[in-house]
This record gives sequence, C-alpha cells and structure tokens, in this order.
Amino acid sequence: MAKRLDGKVAIITGGASGIGEATARLFVQNGAKVIIADIQDELGQQVCQDIGPPEHISYMHCDVTDENHVESIVDAAISKHGQLDIMFANAGIPGAGNRQGILGTDYKDLKRVFETNVFGAFLCAKHAARVMIPAKKGSIVFTSSVASVSYGDVPHPYVASKCAVVGLAKNLCVELGQYGIRVNSVSPFGVASPMLVNAMGLGKSGVERLVSEIATLKGESVDANDVAEAVLFLGSGMSKYVSGQNLVIDGGYSLTNAALAEAYKKMAAS
Ligand SMILES: NC(=O)c1ccc[n+]([C@@H]2O[C@H](COP(=O)([O-])OP(=O)(O)OC[C@H]3O[C@@H](n4cnc5c(N)ncnc54)[C@H](O)[C@@H]3O)[C@@H](O)[C@H]2O)c1
Repeated sequence: MAKRLDGKVAIITGGASGIGEATARLFVQNGAKVIIADIQDELGQQVCQDIGPPEHISYMHCDVTDENHVESIVDAAISKHGQLDIMFANAGIPGAGNRQGILGTDYKDLKRVFETNVFGAFLCAKHAARVMIPAKKGSIVFTSSVASVSYGDVPHPYVASKCAVVGLAKNLCVELGQYGIRVNSVSPFGVASPMLVNAMGLGKSGVERLVSEIATLKGESVDANDVAEAVLFLGSGMSKYVSGQNLVIDGGYSLTNAALAEAYKKMAAS
C-alpha cells in the first residue's frame, strides 16, 4: 500500500473513539506519527496499544476546552517528533439533544456545546498555527457535520457549532494560506459512532438501519473509515491545492429535499 503520510506528524483530538479512532488507525497505516488527544484516558491508551507501535502512536490527556491542555499537546508533538504537520480538530459533543426549539434551549447546554465544538476547535487551530507558521506548511482539518449544509431535526446548539467551524476554516484558509497552511473541514453523515448511538437511543444496528433507510446512495453504508479516508486526503499531499473546503461525506444526502414529494403524496391521498 502506498504510504501517504510517511514522515508526517499528526494530532487527532477525540481520537479515542469513532471517527477520530478510525482516522488514527488509517494515519498510522499510512506512515504518520500520531498523538491521540482525548479525555477518555483508558480507552485512548487501549486504542494506542491496539494500533501500535508506540513510536508511531501515543496518547495524551487533553480537554480541548482548556487552552493549557491544547498548548501542551502541540508542544509535546514538537518535543517528541520535532514537527506538527496535521491537526485534526475532531473532538465534539452533541449536547443535551433537546429538540424543544429555541425557547426550550438551555443556555448552559448551548455554552457547553460551543466550548467543545467551537472554542476547542479554535484553540487547536491557534496552537497548530503557532508551530505551522514558522514551518511554512501544515494542514488543519475540522470535523463539522452534514448539519452544516442541510436541515435534519438536529438541536440548534449543535447545528450552530458545526456551521461555526466551517466559517472558521474559510477565514483561516485565507489568513494561513500565505504561510502554505491549508485549512478544511469534513462533514460526516450518520456514522454509528458511540456519540450518535447514544444520542439517538436506537442501538448501533438501529442507527445503521435508519441511516441506510434515509440515505440517497444505496448499496453502500457509511462508516467511520469513510470519514477517515476523507481526512487522509485533506491531510496529505493528495490535496496539496485544496483549502477552505467543507468536504461533505454523505452520499448526496444533503441534496435531497423530500418535503415537496411528501406534501404532494399527502395531498394526492386526501
Ligand atoms: N457520528 C456522526 O454521524 C457524526 C456526524 C457529523 C459530525 N460528527 C462529528 O464527528 C466528531 C467525532 O464524533 P464521533 O461520531 O466519532 O463520536 P465519538 O463519541 O465516538 O467520538 C468523540 C470523541 O471526542 C472526545 N471528546 C469529547 N469532548 C472532548 C473534549 N472536551 N476534549 C477532548 N476530547 C473530547 C470523546 O471522548 C470521544 O472520544 C464530532 O465532532 C462529531 O460532532 C459525527
């Protein structure tokens, strides 16, 4: 297999689980040295042992909402590996899942979602840029969501947070482009990760069934590896002139608006 990331060093936040874990695995398979930064310490360490070898993958406790933690993981990448080429700011939370509308939205929940999904991503970009600017190269990738491009009955705080990182990627693409640094986001749809399974309360197979039912692209099912492949593309030289993009991994789902067809069916039947 061609190794796309030989000689590269990456930090993956939220790398102990789901999309981050799949990306850490794929990055190491492609020759990268990876630091997983997460708050699930035991799980993160287990994942590193499983992926191995320890020269290629290590775990650090990092709560992305704490700037000192984020600063420390970036400093650790430099002291351990001498460089940082890819920052995958992926850690995220869904929030309380309150679908009561804006009047039912709790400010504390809104703040908590923004602290992780937006401020955390911002801090990761800030400290990555601190070391990437002098190196005059680097790739920063945020995890947004299909909710950044399409309505999907998802709580307001989560949607607003995922739109915010798309805006941040575009702005940073312009500021950091002068230093040879690319900034993009990925927007996954329906990966049955622990986060989505817990949020939907349908079990893993229930989420997979629901997602394949509503999917536009049939005959394939989306999983964390599909997102990892997109991040590999954005992190590697394969995308050397791609910046400021929001790469949506949804098999075309966000282009589907069933409202007219549903309303027509209802009216025709009545
Ligand atoms: N699963 C999906 O379908 C889907 C769709 C769109 C976007 N996303 C986004 O993908 C990203 C990864 O989520 P996932 O689906 O793999 O879920 P996941 O729960 O499997 O992984 C999220 C990881 O982030 C970590 N994390 C949470 N808060 C953190 C913090 N403050 N500091 C450091 N780490 C923290 C968790 O411990 C966990 O390991 C999230 O940003 C999520 O919003 C997921």
